[in-house]
Amino acid sequence: MTLWSGRVGGSLDPAVWEFLHAADADLLPYDCEATYQHAERLHGAGLLSDDELSWVEERLAVIANDPAGYLPEDEDVHSAIERQLGDVGRKIHAGRSRNDQVAAAFRLYVLDACAEARAEIEALALVVLSFAEVEAETLLPGYTHLQRGQPVTLGHHLLAWVEMLDRDRSRFMAAASAAAESPLGAGALAGSTLGLPAPPGQMRNSIDAVSDRDFALDYLYATTVLYVHLSRIGEEIVLWSTGEFGFVRLPETAATGSSMMPQKLNPDVAELARGKAGTAIGRLTGLLATVKGLPLAYDRDLQEDKAPIFAARADVRLGLRALTALVAGLEVDRERMAAAASDPLVLATDAAEALVREGVPFREAHERVAASVRDGSFTPHATAAESVAARAAPGPGGVREAIAEARSRFGSSL
Ligand code: ARG
Repeated sequence: MTLWSGRVGGSLDPAVWEFLHAADADLLPYDCEATYQHAERLHGAGLLSDDELSWVEERLAVIANDPAGYLPEDEDVHSAIERQLGDVGRKIHAGRSRNDQVAAAFRLYVLDACAEARAEIEALALVVLSFAEVEAETLLPGYTHLQRGQPVTLGHHLLAWVEMLDRDRSRFMAAASAAAESPLGAGALAGSTLGLPAPPGQMRNSIDAVSDRDFALDYLYATTVLYVHLSRIGEEIVLWSTGEFGFVRLPETAATGSSMMPQKLNPDVAELARGKAGTAIGRLTGLLATVKGLPLAYDRDLQEDKAPIFAARADVRLGLRALTALVAGLEVDRERMAAAASDPLVLATDAAEALVREGVPFREAHERVAASVRDGSFTPHATAAESVAARAAPGPGGVREAIAEARSRFGSSL
């Protein structure tokens, strides 16, 4: 029995039924919550009794935790819930449509996914911060174009990862505030005549309320940028763990072996983070394409909005947890890093700046030092450690203060 069987005579062709079916079981607890919010509104308007409301509340708590109650013959999660609410279920759809219902449930889902992403991002950031603390003074060359540039510390480099993660956290918070409005009351697209009380945070326009999926796009965008960051972090771990760099050793708890080459320890976690960034970009692009050109208000195309979000949420959780385990177990080869950082040429910029302090115009200082590099006569006046200490914030000189400041930023939100 469908929610619309009064209008459509015969039964649907099985192929049509299968095609229309929504893979939306993940929405179950959220749709129960949205259904309760709507039941409260009906109660507020005198359309549900006190007893009916408390019965609905009890039943929804059971339904929300029983995925097996959603049967193959239910068209979607909304139909499954209404059927399980029995006789009161036959009253509960007054003043709403699946259009405002699905938007309400999906918003609750995205809100939860944002909170989860934020907590997992913070867990990774705290591990990176502890790592930065331990390696605050560990020297390594900083790179541009993947060529040695100027000496920095590993602590300073790791704090760059923390900044990326902090911005990711903000993007999920922004997606959460976009999701935190209520489309309830919009009905199919134009409200209802029943005079139901407004839900908290009710959206201003009923047509927008059932058409808007910006919050889902915002979530996917936050996910995509996060994964782009995880892929850059992953790429650095891939490079640093090569025999050629040899800066870090992978922990055996977060690396894999080769089925053929007995000596191998592979950075699969870091590589998969890089790989899943491509998938994340695809999901965002896919939903943008779904929404583009859709006439207002609701269209069934919008059913395609859920699968990418469900998959993105799993990837965010799994990827952040795996990367947290990987980073927590990395072992630094400080000697290899220091050897790379002791390349005298990484001090060429300092030499040019020393001439500037003596009054030489920078362009001339640059040319003089470049000439000495070219003819092989360049010798630095300082050590890498002195060079690092002389370059204050936002450079690597103030790394201890920067760690303390980042800690208070992350600590205060926990
Ligand atoms: N399964 C649908 C979705 O995910 C629910 C809304 C259906 N609305 C409708 N008018 N057919 O979008």
